[in-house]
Amino acid sequence: MLLVTGGCGFIGSNFIHLMRAERPQTPILNLDALTYAGNLENLSALEGDAGLGFVRGDIADAPLVGQLFAEHPITAVVHFAAESHVDRSILGPGVFIETNVRGTQVLLDAARRAWASKPGRFVMVSTDEVYGSLGPTGRFTESTPLDPSSPYSASKAAADLVGQAYWRTFGLPVLITRCSNNYGPYQFPEKLIPLMIQRASQELRLPVYGDGQNIRDWLHVADHCRAVLAVLERGEPGRVYNIGGDNEVANIAIVRLILRALGKSESLIEFVADRPGHDRRYAMDATRMRTELGWAPQVDFARGIAETIAWYQANCAWWERIVSGDYRAYYERLYGGR
Ligand code: NAD
Ligand code: TYD
Repeated sequence: MLLVTGGCGFIGSNFIHLMRAERPQTPILNLDALTYAGNLENLSALEGDAGLGFVRGDIADAPLVGQLFAEHPITAVVHFAAESHVDRSILGPGVFIETNVRGTQVLLDAARRAWASKPGRFVMVSTDEVYGSLGPTGRFTESTPLDPSSPYSASKAAADLVGQAYWRTFGLPVLITRCSNNYGPYQFPEKLIPLMIQRASQELRLPVYGDGQNIRDWLHVADHCRAVLAVLERGEPGRVYNIGGDNEVANIAIVRLILRALGKSESLIEFVADRPGHDRRYAMDATRMRTELGWAPQVDFARGIAETIAWYQANCAWWERIVSGDYRAYYERLYGGR
């Protein structure tokens, strides 16, 4: 059985959809606390799937996590659960340390105890943000020193290093993935792309931080999920894998592209005060993924972003329920009284 943490979030839910389609023989247990970012509705198409179980709970709850390992034949973990938004980490860093650092350590300890005689595989989903910011040239490789800028990326860097320490010290088969910015369906509309699509659709002002020239390396979430699956199945324990799209785009170019696709005016753009500690540029060298694991992105950005914009237009009820807060009632509708 595969334990997926954070399976009700953006990437975790896309990963569960991929696994149920591509690896239907692998039962999944999804552990998710349903924080503001967790939305069970992201998995509504899989309701009634006997191969997918759900437990609402906190990864930092050691007795609960220990009980899950004791009661289920868990042989692998894919650990997505995290506080994931940089701006929120600037407003309140505490929960980032609690979930991303302590929660990760609780999971690692539980896996270590459960797998004492027969080791499983623990994929830790880290991020390119652990490397900090690049100047105008160069790309991050797996040996670039970690130099995080925000409380979010610092907490992810800590989790990433604790994971590596569990491999070196205890021999726990931890595999680390560091991926660039994802886009695609089910992304919570606080992140750049869904936020801009949602606000532009409603003709609300579009807040662009600083001069809008910050660069991210955008990768479709389906390509990230396929990379995580490749690492889970064929990666080498103790190894770090960079995942990226070779697709550097400035924020302002993304916002303009969304406006053009929706037929809205650029006058909606409003340049606002920059994010403190704002990383200027990320770019990934994903040669190791390509040469060692045979992975390559399949979704071209022009097609992927057009399909993503179309998805948010076709699913405006999904994000409207998030904006109104009504998505929280979904859990009660599904699980109330059980
Ligand atoms: P998300 O915020 O959309 O989802 C996070 C999920 O984790 C939610 O379902 C939430 O309910 C759950 N969660 C949060 N705290 C929890 C806790 N204490 N216990 C159990 N569940 C908890 O995040 P995402 O964008 O899907 O990111 C998933 C992972 O991928 C994160 O580890 C993130 O750091 C990493 N990552 C994200 C990106 C990106 O572009 N979004 C890029 C690289 C890496
Ligand atoms: P975000 O989606 O928060 O991802 P990250 O900070 O983890 O890369 O932001 C992507 C880029 O877009 C980042 O440079 C910050 C910028 N941004 C804005 O300009 N305005 C916004 O309202 C948001 C949410 C982000």
